[in-house]
Amino acid sequence: MSKTFYIETFGCQMNAHDSEKVIGTLEQHGYARVDDEADAGLILYNTCSIRDKAEQKVFHRLNEYKRLQGEGKKFAVLGCVAQQEGTRIFEKAPYVSLVSGSASYRNLPEMLSRLENGEQRITGLDDRQTDAAFETEFVARTNPHRGYITIIEGCDKFCAYCVVPYTRGKERSRTAKSVLDEARRMADAGFTEIQLLGQNVNSYKDPSGRMSFAELLAAIGQLTGIRRVRFTTSHPRDFTRDIVEAIDAVPALCDHVHLPVQSGSTAVLKAMNREYTRDWYLERISWIKAAKRSISLTSDIIVGFPGETEEDLEQTATLLEEVGYDAIFAFKYSPRPNTPAIGMADSLSDEVKAARLQVLLDRQREIQRTNYERHVGEEMELMVEGYNRQRGQVIGRSTQNKTVNFTTTQAILPATGSYVRVRVTQSFPNSLVGEACV
Ligand code: SAH
Ligand code: SF4
Ligand code: F3S
Repeated sequence: MSKTFYIETFGCQMNAHDSEKVIGTLEQHGYARVDDEADAGLILYNTCSIRDKAEQKVFHRLNEYKRLQGEGKKFAVLGCVAQQEGTRIFEKAPYVSLVSGSASYRNLPEMLSRLENGEQRITGLDDRQTDAAFETEFVARTNPHRGYITIIEGCDKFCAYCVVPYTRGKERSRTAKSVLDEARRMADAGFTEIQLLGQNVNSYKDPSGRMSFAELLAAIGQLTGIRRVRFTTSHPRDFTRDIVEAIDAVPALCDHVHLPVQSGSTAVLKAMNREYTRDWYLERISWIKAAKRSISLTSDIIVGFPGETEEDLEQTATLLEEVGYDAIFAFKYSPRPNTPAIGMADSLSDEVKAARLQVLLDRQREIQRTNYERHVGEEMELMVEGYNRQRGQVIGRSTQNKTVNFTTTQAILPATGSYVRVRVTQSFPNSLVGEACV
């Protein structure tokens, strides 16, 4: 039982991909993954602290795990709560033996050896010290068609509400060579879609000075075998025109940009320390809309930031309409420990925040209804992702990242990961329905 592990992952795509690398590293060290924590010698918990009472949830969960303690199991807390809470985790949960934030994962092999030697209080809490990224050849990729590559870690932006600069350390990019080598290995292994990841992916700065972000995108899009390249998340501050030019020039780059605005009010943006105004953001949007290709736009929104008025909220609602996003991820502001905004009076009640959130979601739904309707009659290429057997439908994803449920007259359903041309016949605010072209 000692060399088995169980891992649970929360949070963003970066965290999910970190777990793929952690799993790869563990397997390389002779560990076997199990699906039930009861069968595991080592239980890992890769945590997120972006919103809500994340710390409390983690401690609650560790308490549940405690009942397994007597059986000689070891516990590890990884990710953003690990970095944020640090050695407090040992105080509150003494049965934990390893606490490590993502900025220390490059030391994972060494930390594992110490764990195996029976050491009790192992920490990897590099915080904003390190310049190194977590690179490993051993990645346990969960999807055989779409693979992720972290090109930049950490964040130097310090938005007033956000824990990430404290939990993931300072911005550090991998060399273009190392990214391209990994992309090439993935193409050779049969992956057709690559997603480049970073908390601010477009803040990428090649340490060797060889390539800009847009050039790296284009180079990956030109690799033999790669049919789709996505990137997330872009920060408006670092969104340059050459990214749009790259999308126009390289067919494999997907027709989608996720460009979180957070608020449509310049006053709120200032209080958030986003370092751009509404107009400055909308100028970037106008570049994207001027592209030859039809690029889908999506965003993240925070409602109820301290000081947000009804007029500010209305500014956000009109911005949603002006941009015409295809999707938004909207959240109620959640005060986070150690962030600058924690000192600002969080005067809006949860009810007010919830009501404001609903206002935006209702307006956004109408925007999406119109946007999605425009696709009816269109023919598009989808990557097959799965099946809804009950409805006899195949589930596919478009270059714009839209879900299309389609039927086919073929006796054999298309395989996951294959590409199929489909004609859209019907639309909803969040998905499309279609028929495979014959
Ligand atoms: N680097 C990206 C976003 C990373 S965090 C960017 O700057 O756009 C993902 C999303 O979580 C953010 O876009 C924001 O909308 C949300 N978020 C972050 N901190 C939050 C907080 N304290 N309360 C509510 N939402 C938050
Ligand atoms: Fe957080 Fe702002 Fe950095 Fe995004 S840019 S991760 S919201 S601090
Ligand atoms: Fe969460 Fe850390 Fe990602 S706080 S959203 S796991 S960067």
